[in-house]
Amino acid sequence: MKYLILSLIVMLISCRPNKEQPTESMPRDPHSFSMPGDAKVTHLRWNALIDFDKKIIRATASWGIEFKPGVDFITFDTKDLAINKVTLDANQPAEYTLDQGDSLLGWALKISIREDTRTVNIEYETSPGAEALQWLQPQQTSGKKLPFLFTQSQAILARSWVPCQDSPGVRFSYEADVTVPKDLLALMSASNPQEKNDSGTYHFEMKQPIPSYLLALSVGDIAFKSISERSGIYAEPMVLNSSVWEFADLEKMIEGAESLYGAYAWERYDVIVLPPSFPFGGMENPRLTFATPTILAGDRSLTSLIAHELAHSWSGNLVTNDTWNDFWLNEGFTVYFEHRIMEKLYGRDYEEMLASLALQDLKTTVSTMKADNQYADTRLRLSLEGRNPDDGVTDIAYQKGYFFLRSIEEKFGRDKFDAFLKNYFSANAFKSMDTDRFIENITTFYKTNYNVAIDKALFDKWIFTEGLPEDCPQPTGEKFKKVDSLLDTWTNDKKLNTAATEEWSTHEWLHFLKNLPDTISGDQMKALDKFGNFTASGNSEITTEWLVKVIRYKYSDGYARLEEFLVNTGRRKFLIPLYTELLKTPEGKMRAIEIYKKARPNYHFVATNTFDKVVK
Ligand code: BES
Ligand code: ZN
Repeated sequence: MKYLILSLIVMLISCRPNKEQPTESMPRDPHSFSMPGDAKVTHLRWNALIDFDKKIIRATASWGIEFKPGVDFITFDTKDLAINKVTLDANQPAEYTLDQGDSLLGWALKISIREDTRTVNIEYETSPGAEALQWLQPQQTSGKKLPFLFTQSQAILARSWVPCQDSPGVRFSYEADVTVPKDLLALMSASNPQEKNDSGTYHFEMKQPIPSYLLALSVGDIAFKSISERSGIYAEPMVLNSSVWEFADLEKMIEGAESLYGAYAWERYDVIVLPPSFPFGGMENPRLTFATPTILAGDRSLTSLIAHELAHSWSGNLVTNDTWNDFWLNEGFTVYFEHRIMEKLYGRDYEEMLASLALQDLKTTVSTMKADNQYADTRLRLSLEGRNPDDGVTDIAYQKGYFFLRSIEEKFGRDKFDAFLKNYFSANAFKSMDTDRFIENITTFYKTNYNVAIDKALFDKWIFTEGLPEDCPQPTGEKFKKVDSLLDTWTNDKKLNTAATEEWSTHEWLHFLKNLPDTISGDQMKALDKFGNFTASGNSEITTEWLVKVIRYKYSDGYARLEEFLVNTGRRKFLIPLYTELLKTPEGKMRAIEIYKKARPNYHFVATNTFDKVVK
């Protein structure tokens, strides 16, 4: 009897509508139509044929699903997909609707399900303009003989090649069978082949649950070379050896990362070096980072990008931003982790050069955003409802996020912060995190373990306030003191001392270029070029800094290099400052339009989407 009453009470309590957790019938993420609180995916079986002639993927996505009792439909995000057939489980016909959303979010695919439905099967085709996909002609590759395809799903482009619940808060495991032309190799963000086979069909498995923005595919004339037992490099045969040389420290980076924040959770870590049109520096697709060839500097000086993508294996891929409003949780943590890996491998002085360059860029970004009426977006926690999540991809999430975490480290001590981070990654592994829960998490951790009360004002100042706090950590930049003194002599007596630069790395040169005086004459540009050999530099970071000056000071000896670089590089980080500088004057604008016409066919959608609006 006692138990009966008790269980009645329990039943009554649990039936009471719970104010804290309303039942969901609204999307929980402003960038997805899906309602995972009602019905969500758990596993994907993807069967696909890659058609290079038509530039389409023909596929079936079979989704294992779970839903709340009484729910009779499940919603997917799609964009420009032709849906051919939808069935439930073993081929039962299903009813569905495709509801038009908008040009940003695409279409909601609503499929009716039954009480006993376990799987929904969607047969579909992508469109040749699918935003995630870039189909390269043979001449756009290094080998020039075979075509290439790669995907870029982050932030909300996965829906243009797989119908999915395209929200970072929804995770699923997956397996895939992908058929490609026989002379090409296919790779995914999953277990991967290391060589081509005779059938042209490749099988993939990703056992750990991932969000849709980490779905990735790459198809091309790709070869593999191993670096360690659990890591290696994929690239077109022509760039494979130089890539392996550049990333020789890969295994040491993984070990360094593990020694900081716990075991690597994804078994293998490989990197694919893509053709130069890849729009980002890197993309942290699980087990297989996608990387730009613009970091092949020939001197291993730009490998912090690999440390960054590797770090995402914890920050981002294990603990994932809940929506794109919390993007700084992915990127700020990753930049912090990246710096710790670089410090571990190459020492504090080296890392501080990177931090000092980052702070200079961050300050410029903050003042530009203030001047451009974008000051609200200098808060870490964003409000991107109704806007493209791309608007949040600025130095704020990355560098302000980094300096915030570094300020906690400096305020309360490194040991405490390291213990917090290690726990944060393991306690929240394979889950999503939002800004409020992060604050709660860290406050509780410091209170419980160290009896340290973190003042709420610290979070207000960094996360919810615009701009950069005055007490922002200051990198020591010891190594840059020599650069500064050379800059002084040049500014004062226009003398450049080549001997002083013999030991300079890429980062000293970057500091030099970033801190040149505000006006430079044509003769001075010539002298500078002779001094640093900038126009001929093969280092993409140096080239970009230099070409901004080429445009600003109308240094015509650099124009040919400018055009060549813009036509052959698709990395948005480099394109943005160069086109921005060109657009500042009428003749620059004309040159921008002319170059863009030639370059546009080489750019991915995420780049053309940025520039179509402004270069015209
Ligand atoms: N995940 C990002 C790239 C990204 C962000 C793609 C948002 C789409 C939307 C990746 O980890 C990244 O941050 N790449 C940087 C390099 C890094 C060293 C700062 C890049 O591409 O420049
Ligand atoms: Zn990143």
